[in-house]
Amino acid sequence: MPSPISFQAIRIFEEDGKFVQRIIERSTEDLPEGEVLIQVHYSSLNYKDSLSSSGNRGVTRHYPHTPGIDASGIVAASTDPDFKAGDPVVVTSYDLGMSIDGGFGEYIRVPAKWILPLPEGLSLQETMIYGTAGFTAAQSFWELKVAGCIPDNGPVLVTGAAGGVGSISVRLLLNEGYEVAAVSGHDHGKALLRELGVKQILDREEAVDSGNRPLLKPQWNGVIDNVGGIPLATALKTTKPGGVITTCGNVAGAELSTTVFPFILRGLKLIGIDSQNCPYGLRKQLWQYLATYWKLPNLKVGLKEVSMEGILNEIELMLRSEVKGRVVLRHKAAE
Ligand SMILES: NC(=O)c1ccc[n+]([C@@H]2O[C@H](COP(=O)([O-])OP(=O)(O)OC[C@H]3O[C@@H](n4cnc5c(N)ncnc54)[C@H](OP(=O)(O)O)[C@@H]3O)[C@@H](O)[C@H]2O)c1
Repeated sequence: MPSPISFQAIRIFEEDGKFVQRIIERSTEDLPEGEVLIQVHYSSLNYKDSLSSSGNRGVTRHYPHTPGIDASGIVAASTDPDFKAGDPVVVTSYDLGMSIDGGFGEYIRVPAKWILPLPEGLSLQETMIYGTAGFTAAQSFWELKVAGCIPDNGPVLVTGAAGGVGSISVRLLLNEGYEVAAVSGHDHGKALLRELGVKQILDREEAVDSGNRPLLKPQWNGVIDNVGGIPLATALKTTKPGGVITTCGNVAGAELSTTVFPFILRGLKLIGIDSQNCPYGLRKQLWQYLATYWKLPNLKVGLKEVSMEGILNEIELMLRSEVKGRVVLRHKAAE
């Protein structure tokens, strides 16, 4: 066992019914059990992190807690033969940052089966620009392609397009020659989407229909939905026959009100995305794609890199839906 190391971490405390965020000193002895101790170089901000940081018990049951569902860094110590000190590695999802102390601390200790060796072709920083948001975008994009969505059939609609999952989805689609129609409710989000090369940008209101008609004019070749609720129900009414829709989020609502008609009259496929439990084999394959065939030349457009102090502010902005693109947390080890 290596000697204990003291390190800094963001910690969320529950005090008098309120959730308070502090940067504190911890020891590797305080970390949960696991085979591999990792010195974290980068983490990233995802919607789930903002929920965990603000006391959402659907994400994190027990406090005090260190959020951060993503981490990339260097193995500091390992009792598992597949990893040795000095290996560059990536951890996303599973229980990291939810019930296990996450990447908003300078060290994590996790089970070996959660860890991927750093994919060749990506730096530690680049893996976190993707992070869970980018991985989820990759999983959605992959499902679209497997279900037969090809660039020739017209625009693919992306909802929540200026957010983490949305903005990487937009890039993956454009990079492979798909036409994109992107939904955003903010000027700063629209500016990012224009910078990425999106020609068709819709206001949130243009992508919602609350009427009773089960089907509307078909417009979309496919849909990557990141928001759920009425926008997803509307996407089902407006996707072309044979089209495919992926869904991964619920920022616009967890309920889905629809009919069977999009499925039985237009043959649509609705595919759920669960990146947290994506099987290890597919996870590894998709990371390889992100590092090679799908590697984005414009990955850093819209990137904001912040320190531990800076991420606290970004959490607040994300809760107000004011973050655009990706926010990466750079720890001292990366400097
Ligand atoms: N299933 C999975 O595996 C998985 C993995 C990762 C994330 N997710 C989920 O995916 C969603 C997006 O995550 P993210 O990390 O990309 O979050 P994010 O960066 O906060 O992006 C969400 C975007 O949704 C839009 N939005 C917010 N409130 C909305 C509303 N009421 N109606 C319509 N649009 C709204 C915002 O864009 P504008 O303000 O520009 O409209 C925002 O940029 C979250 O629900 C998250 O929990 C799921």
